[in-house]
Formats: sequence, C-alpha cells, structure tokens
Amino acid sequence: MSRTARFTLDPAFAVGDVDPRLFGSFVEHLGRCVYTGVYEPGHPTADEAGLRGDVLALVRELGVTAVRYPGGNFVSGYKWEDSVGPADERPRRLDLAWRSTESNRFGLSEYIDFLKKIGPQAEPMMAINLGTRGVAEALDLQEYANYPSGTALSDLRVAHGDKDPFNIRLWCLGNEMDGPWQTGHKTAEEYGRLAAETARAMRQLDPSVELVACGSSGQSMDTFAAWEATVLAETYDLVDYISLHAYYEELDGDRDSFLASAVDTESFIENVVATCDHVGARLKSTKKINLSFDEWNVWYQSRPNPHPTEDWQEAPRLLEDVYSVTDAVVFGSLLIALLRHADRVTVACLAQLVNVIAPILTEPGGPAWKQTTFFPFAQASRYGRGRVLDVRVDSPTYETQKYGEVALVQATAVRDPETGAVTVFAVNRSQREALPLEVAVHGLDVTTVVEHTALADADPEARNTLEQPERVAPHEVPGTTLKGSVVSATLEPLSWNVIRLG
Ligand code: AHR
Repeated sequence: MSRTARFTLDPAFAVGDVDPRLFGSFVEHLGRCVYTGVYEPGHPTADEAGLRGDVLALVRELGVTAVRYPGGNFVSGYKWEDSVGPADERPRRLDLAWRSTESNRFGLSEYIDFLKKIGPQAEPMMAINLGTRGVAEALDLQEYANYPSGTALSDLRVAHGDKDPFNIRLWCLGNEMDGPWQTGHKTAEEYGRLAAETARAMRQLDPSVELVACGSSGQSMDTFAAWEATVLAETYDLVDYISLHAYYEELDGDRDSFLASAVDTESFIENVVATCDHVGARLKSTKKINLSFDEWNVWYQSRPNPHPTEDWQEAPRLLEDVYSVTDAVVFGSLLIALLRHADRVTVACLAQLVNVIAPILTEPGGPAWKQTTFFPFAQASRYGRGRVLDVRVDSPTYETQKYGEVALVQATAVRDPETGAVTVFAVNRSQREALPLEVAVHGLDVTTVVEHTALADADPEARNTLEQPERVAPHEVPGTTLKGSVVSATLEPLSWNVIRLG
C-alpha cells in the first residue's frame, strides 16, 4: 500500500453541525481543581471574588463552553444547601469520594460568577446528587437556582445576594451511577426509575430543561449497553441525552495501542448510538437521544500519586497528571473522534479544567501555565466550529495489540458556513515515520493554505512544567500547498496537525 494518506472533501457530504457544547469542560470539587486552581483568594491575580485572573485568561483562550459542576463522584455526596449563603458560615464536610475535607467556600454562586467571567460562550451544566439524595432535593436546587422570586427558595437566593436566577438549562441526573465506587451506586433498574421520576418532576417545574441520564462510565463495564437500554426504557421521553465517560492511558509500555485509543472512543459512541436507536425503535419513537460525552481525557489512573497526601486534607494534590507530547497527540485524536460524530455527540466535557487531569496547571501563590493538551483543545474550539465534513481516510495502517490493524492517519475537517474556510485536523500515529497527506477539495471555495501547525517534538516525552512552562507549543509547518484542487502536506511522526484553508 502507498505510504500516502488521502481523502476527499466535498461540502455535499457532511456529518452534521458542531454544537458549541462539544467544547465543554468540567470543574469538580476534587484535589486542586477549585481551590488554588480556579479559586484562590489572596493570589496576586485574584479578583475581589477570589477567582484567579491568570486562570480565567487561560480558560478564555482555551475556548470552553459548557462547564459541568460540581462532580463527578463528588456530586453523589453533595448537599447543595451547604454551598450557598455567606461563605464563612458554610459547613465543612467530609467528601467521601475523594477522602478530602470540603470547606464549601466556593459554591453555587461562585460557580455562576466564574462562568460569567469566562464570557458569554460559557454555560452552566449542573449535576444533581442521585447517589444519597433524590427527587425532593433536585427540585429544591432547581427552584433555588432558576425560579425568579416569590417562593421560599428563590427568595433565599435573592437574600443571598443573587437577584437574577441562574437560568441553568442543562442538568445531569447523577454521575456514574453504574460504578460500584459511586456513593449510592444503583442497579440500572433502580437508577432508571429514580432518573425518570426526577426528570418528570423537574419538567413539571420547567418543561424546557435539558436532561442528561447517566450512561456507562466506560465501554468496558460489565453492564455496558444493557445499562443504557434499561435506563432509556424508563427515561426515553423524559431526557435529552445519555452520558458517556472514557479515559485512556499507556499501559505496559504499549504505546502503539495507546496511540489508537480513539478507536475505542469511536466504537463506544457508535455502540451507544445503536443502543439509543434500538430503544427508540422498540418504543416506536421518532425522538433521537443525543450523546453527552461528559468526561473524556488521558488519565494515568494506574500510576501512584507522586504527591503524598493524607486522608481528609483540604485541596490535596490529586490526579495532577503532567502531559507529554504523546499524550497530546492521543488527546487530539479523541477530539477528532468527537468531531467525527458531531451529529449525535452534541455535548462533550473535557475532564477536567484546572490541575486535575487538566489542560491548565497552577501553583498556589504562583503561576498558571498550559499543558501540552491545552493546544489541541484551544485550536479545535477556535477552528472547529461549523459543519463537519464526511472524511474517509485512505491511510497506511499499523498493527496494535489492543485494536488490531489501525489507520496511521486519523482526520476530520470542519467548514465554517459563513466564510467558507475549512480546517483539517489530523494526527499521525506513527512513532517514526513522517507521512505524506493529500486532500482533494471539491466544490469548496478555498484557494490557499492559511496555516499548517503541528504539535510534535523530537522528544515525545517533552512536557511543560513549572520550571519550563513553554517547552512545548505548536510550530508552523512549511511546505504545505494547495495546487489545483489538491492540498499536499507532510505529517511529522507522532503529531497533531491543524491545516487551515481559506
Ligand atoms: O474526573 C475524575 C473522576 O472520574 C470523576 O469524578 C468521575 O465521574 C470519574 O470516575
């Protein structure tokens, strides 16, 4: 087979439009995501509310939209009432999920303030506790957050200083309820009934809310697919989305398989779509359930924590993975997988935003900087808005232990309907070989290569650290051309590429 990867772009063949919510993220009360991450009163860049200005600037540059909150596993023990009212009167609580102490100094009002300060593109995505709590507490939170005024809980919000309702449209009905690690873990039948009754009640208060039912916390769960089918049989008419979570890491030195992680992401998405549509067909429904891929990332779960922590600390250093160039290439391929399914994946949240398996790292009292994974996300969020074109790559392949034969080049392309500009996102999974890429463009009004950047490095282990915060960044790739109707480029070994055509 030729070593050149090829595909054709034609605006007549498209996957669907990208929902801005595809570029969501996630802030959990976990480790230092909130405390000394987003929020650090007294930090030299902190505003009057204690929000770090340096972090806010990076979050804006990252281009996140929906921000899921407050968990994660944390939400299954969360009492929302603890997180409102005067901050110095809020109770300290044990967080069973992460064996930490939660001060509640940052709560619901601070979260909404954080979103406002990110900018108009940011939107709340609030998870409710269906682990230790149920319908009544969900309704109370909804009334507190969204009802304008004139009732006990809406007036309480006003008395707490938030005159305007928070207008939270998007709600998650619990978190990873299929996982035995989850406080209040349930069977699919138990959860399906609870999710249905909670959804019904929340819609009684406000029929316009958008609701996410918990799907599986991974495709490898024993209950996978049966869980989705059972939960959706109960909730199909009451919810809008089903959630998916997936994390990847290099195991046993098998880098080739790690680089192919997006094969699992794509099959996970396709299997959940098939399950949703199967339930829809059984119910003779014309409604389609969309997918909320509300936790995804590279996460080195199997590695011991390099920061020794004790139980019940406040804001311990947990899950502070420092990402390499290799990790960023895998991360970029996960983004491509999401874009390639933009017709059904209409919400996605990078888990998480700061310090905890995050694109942004901070030091308490010190600087904030970009991880290698910051760049693919920021570029995809900036240039990946519009219509995803149907891309079928004819690529050389390689053999992996986990996924068999896999394409070396994975790609997608997004066309901005207003300007006609097209951006190609591509990864080269080969660890050694630079690969030629040829893209035939038909019926597209593009005449020039605006820019080709790549994230790649002679050292695939290179990382950005406190000592070297700018060690890794995308560089321009010379020599990419558009001649006639063919774009020609070279994809460096182990690289994430953004080719902008205008
Ligand atoms: O993102 C870290 C954790 O991963 C979340 O709390 C949980 O939902 C998932 O297992």
